[in-house]
Amino acid sequence: MKNVESKQEVKVFAPATVANVICGYDILGFALDKPGDEVVMRRKETPGVQIVNIEGDDGLLPWEAEKNTVSASVQNYLAQIGQPDLGVEIELYKQMPIGSGLGSSAASTVAGLFAINQLLGEQLTQKELLPLALKGEELACGYPHADNVTPALLGGFTLIRSSDPLDVVHLPVPSELHCAVVFPHVDVPTRAAREMIRKNVPLKDAVKQWGNIAGLVSGLFMNDYNLIARSMEDVLIEPTRAILIPEFYEMRKIAMEVGALSFGISGSGPSVFSFARSPELAAEIAEAIKSHLKKNDIDCNTYISSVNTLGPKVL
Ligand code: HSE
Repeated sequence: MKNVESKQEVKVFAPATVANVICGYDILGFALDKPGDEVVMRRKETPGVQIVNIEGDDGLLPWEAEKNTVSASVQNYLAQIGQPDLGVEIELYKQMPIGSGLGSSAASTVAGLFAINQLLGEQLTQKELLPLALKGEELACGYPHADNVTPALLGGFTLIRSSDPLDVVHLPVPSELHCAVVFPHVDVPTRAAREMIRKNVPLKDAVKQWGNIAGLVSGLFMNDYNLIARSMEDVLIEPTRAILIPEFYEMRKIAMEVGALSFGISGSGPSVFSFARSPELAAEIAEAIKSHLKKNDIDCNTYISSVNTLGPKVL
């Protein structure tokens, strides 16, 4: 362990994320300003990692250190720095819905890893934390996917060029890009939403998809909002997953009529998101969708956010 000043207690925030970003299944993601999760972590005299409080999870998350992604990730971190017996207690405040397609487990995992790293005087760099975060995500979701944990940890818009070996790229964020997120209160388990996707795709669809991914990435570099807008189309995954989200195509129609650049599923759903060129327009889009859902007796949460380029932070 590096000989640096450590703290007795820290409180941190880690953000929700939008994975896939419509055309980039498993490879693109960006962080939101809100919602997100908070973790309070402190040193204790007795050895071992212990969860002492969880709030905001409706009793859904495990408290057992090996099973909870926050504590398990902290255990992995301590093993990596050669301090497996250090005493740490954890409070987790979930301030975002679980199973919403907004990277809930990634936000918790990243909050835990960022907190322990702050507590111990930054023994590891953010990039060194990434494989640990990926391991935590695998524990929480049953499969490793880096497109939520990477933007949650590094902030901004990220590309997973390769997940084995891990090779991630930070993409630029055009300044006017704002996001409207709507989380309809319907149940879409991530695992099911993943299992139903077809495993083989026709070459002509693949060609269309990689043209769109390249177009979106180019649009981000060129500040070209039109190119971003016309590239945000998913011919591979969305047609299957949209079946699980009530009013999906009606919501898209509404968003585009109000002036969205794009509309699609956030992660594996059921949250949906649009890009717009101002926070006001993003708010109008979210309101229009909300009022449509209300007419169909579906409650929802809405979030308006820019792309969060900072990632996790000490509170
Ligand atoms: N890329 C993952 C998926 C994100 O679409 O299954 C899950 O949030």
